[in-house]
Amino acid sequence: MSPKALNIGDPFPNFEAQTNLGKIDFYDWMADSWAILFSHPADFTPVCTTELARVAQLIPEFQKRGIKPIALSCDTAESHNAWIEDIKSYGKLASFDYPIIADDKRELAVKLNMLDKDELNAAGIPLTCRAVFVIDDKKKLRLSILYPATTGRNFDEILRVVDSLKLTQTKSVATPADWQPGGQCMVLPTVQAADVPQLFPNGVETIQVPSGKSYLRITAQPQN
Ligand code: BEZ
Repeated sequence: MSPKALNIGDPFPNFEAQTNLGKIDFYDWMADSWAILFSHPADFTPVCTTELARVAQLIPEFQKRGIKPIALSCDTAESHNAWIEDIKSYGKLASFDYPIIADDKRELAVKLNMLDKDELNAAGIPLTCRAVFVIDDKKKLRLSILYPATTGRNFDEILRVVDSLKLTQTKSVATPADWQPGGQCMVLPTVQAADVPQLFPNGVETIQVPSGKSYLRITAQPQN
């Protein structure tokens, strides 16, 4: 029986793993940061190479947000180190500064429910899908996305979600479709009308709708 999938809000399990940068205890490696763990089917594969290079290019953006990236691929640390030279060359990177977990035995892929039964390697063994887990500084799962092996991820979108998560955990707003940092936000449905002036001193616009209900309340993005 496969392990139960993690839900948003679940404690993210700790684990020890070998990486290209040595052995880690995941919680110790995270320390007080957030983390993004993203998995790959295998080393020396084209889409994965573009993804790992993109994340390396985005390191300053992850640092700005206090979030540490860590990848996982179902090959050995030695294989990862050889592959990293290709990733650096493809991404025109002077260095490659985040770890790739060596999950050649697929232990973590099974534990974290990341195997894609439709995507098999040459030996008929399931590959990992492109899972994304965002874990907060309390070690809680805050976002999980699964992509098939044939679709590369959009890391600008993942950074956008991290910005939304960080904004909405402290302010009484949610972010609408296609929101970008600095854009207008929606007042949370749980906010009572009487509390609006104090919570949103810059004002709230209520959009009129046929139902007559006042739930579409728009406000400027609250400042931190
Ligand atoms: C890739 O990274 O290009 C890839 C890996 C496994 C299946 C399909 C694509």
